[in-house]
Amino acid sequence: MGAARSVGRAGDAASLAHYENPAYYQRTYSKRKHDIAYYVELAGAVSEVLEYGIGNGRIALPMARRGVRVTGVDLSQPMLRDLEARLARESVEVRARVEALRGDMRRVRLGRRFQLVIAPFNVILHLYSLAEIEAFFARVREHLSDDGEFVLDVSVPAPEDLSGDSGRRYKGPPVRDPETGETLRYSEVFAYDPVRQILTVVAEFRGKDRQYWRVPLTQRQFFPAELEALLYYNGFDDIRFEPDFASAPAATDVDSLAIRCRLRQASAPHPQRRAVRKY
Ligand SMILES: C[S@@+](CC[C@H](N)C(=O)[O-])C[C@H]1O[C@@H](n2cnc3c(N)ncnc32)[C@H](O)[C@@H]1O
Repeated sequence: MGAARSVGRAGDAASLAHYENPAYYQRTYSKRKHDIAYYVELAGAVSEVLEYGIGNGRIALPMARRGVRVTGVDLSQPMLRDLEARLARESVEVRARVEALRGDMRRVRLGRRFQLVIAPFNVILHLYSLAEIEAFFARVREHLSDDGEFVLDVSVPAPEDLSGDSGRRYKGPPVRDPETGETLRYSEVFAYDPVRQILTVVAEFRGKDRQYWRVPLTQRQFFPAELEALLYYNGFDDIRFEPDFASAPAATDVDSLAIRCRLRQASAPHPQRRAVRKY
């Protein structure tokens, strides 16, 4: 059976389905901690952060506990509700430091600037077309102070996920439904659109009574050099790669790529002019 190819449009149902069950999200990524430490350290140098795709606060809450004010934007209602529930269990001080609003990262305009703007854990993989990516980068430029930093991270495309055996089913270990406690059989079907560079992974959960749920996750695949060019030609400069969140040189096997950049200053040469050499 081939997995259905997603339309791949920012904010569509397939781009948000993976975030419908925050308890499952929390459990699935409970071992992912290195990125939290990375962003908490970065935020330590500033007093305020704007986080695109704040989700249920996996990164925002640890930042707020360290005294940083966090403004977050996210489109998923379930994730934002879960963030609210988590905030209710925090101290008054931490609660006061986090402000989250529901909106599309391509559109929300806050009318103020931040020294640190972040888009952690594959947030931009939910932007599929050039127009969507450029609209988001325009919002980042509007919200970043002149001396500020924009930091994001993406999963580096894995050749095995993009290979020709699209539609093949991979069986994973059984999972427990975090709400009912039921043990469910778990499998994934991968489909890759090599032209639009969109990977769709359909997770299938099957219960005892043959009931099943399919949850798609559509992610644009960004190759590092492509992302560097997109950032550069959208007004960012001083672009630095930090493979797997370390500032050490890239290893051969890189899972996540953190990217740091700044706004290109008005005095810097226009990128197209810079490329032309005079002899
Ligand atoms: C992988 S999660 C990352 C959440 C959080 N930053 C973390 O590290 O756990 C991606 C987040 O992006 C949000 N998202 C997807 N498309 C969006 C859009 N168009 N505008 C705003 N948020 C979006 C999802 O709802 C989800 O919470």
